Amino acid sequence: MATEPTRNLALELVRVTEAAALAAGRFMGRGDKNAADRAAVDAMRVVLNSIAMNAIIVIGEGEKDQAPMLYNGERVGTGEGPEMDIAIDPIDGTRPLANGTSNAISTVALAPRGAMFNPGPFLYMNKIAVGPQARGVVDIEAPVEHNLRAIARASGKKVEDLTVVILDRPRHEQLIAEVRRCGARIRLLTDGDVAGALMTCWPDSGIDVLLGIGGTPEGVLAACALRAMGGEIQGKLHARNQDEIRRGQEMGYDFNKVLTLDDLVSSDDVFFAATGITDGELLRGVKYFGNGARTDSLVVRGLTGTVRQIIATHRWDKLSQFSAIKYHSSS
Ligand code: FBP
Repeated sequence: MATEPTRNLALELVRVTEAAALAAGRFMGRGDKNAADRAAVDAMRVVLNSIAMNAIIVIGEGEKDQAPMLYNGERVGTGEGPEMDIAIDPIDGTRPLANGTSNAISTVALAPRGAMFNPGPFLYMNKIAVGPQARGVVDIEAPVEHNLRAIARASGKKVEDLTVVILDRPRHEQLIAEVRRCGARIRLLTDGDVAGALMTCWPDSGIDVLLGIGGTPEGVLAACALRAMGGEIQGKLHARNQDEIRRGQEMGYDFNKVLTLDDLVSSDDVFFAATGITDGELLRGVKYFGNGARTDSLVVRGLTGTVRQIIATHRWDKLSQFSAIKYHSSS
């Protein structure tokens, strides 16, 4: 049945990630991760609370005791409007931002209340993510070679044509050796596997698949984006030690269970926005000029599958008249 166009919350979310990126971008290369994070969180929260929605943070800055703001369980939005789950990552890539290297982004995702997987305290997840061309052909439990062959077949490529993105970590030594043995190309990222997963849905990036262990919160955020963009991600919680396995059992988490896209986010009615903080393959970073700045963002709506790229110019002379966020020094 045809209906009138409905509200696209992603168009409001992009103001949230723009604000966080504009505030955090000031800290590029300045070696202070905490100050960058504080600036991003402060800016993000101001704009989030102006959106007409009743959202509960499922993926936030951590438990209330460690995170004074945007903590898991905090309500954000005006309190009126749709009941939603929200996942935030004010900076995915705090280290690259502090070091002045690539691929730091700010991201937010929304889904109807109850639709997002709650990772609890379990920080790490093994992941496989692919774009629309290879949706439905991968299996996180299958050997790397099987998956690479399946992706190549589905994409009309040879395995040697594939590019696999992997976080550059010692824990991936064996995985990297395996991918090399299969003959695929590898792009190692120092950080930022939300961007890495998104690249699989971005033909210009040249990335075919993301493999390896990264953050669980980042996995849920990526799932929202990939669900909306027609890709696929599967995950398996990764326990770092026996204590985590024991806690998982007590809390009802199963480290052997494959978390499908539906488990990670169970609705198509998802919204996702990301803004570049430092330059990356996916998004350009914030550029400051005398009286303003330019941001580069991605805005995605699951129901329609519309993906927008928004390049915005922000003017300090106008913004400073009313914005609660201080984007620049007055001197
Ligand atoms: P933060 O910027 O929040 O620290 O996350 C960066 C990141 O690279 C994520 O993209 C990734 O999922 C996670 O860290 C991997 O964790 P670790 O650095 O501990 O391997």
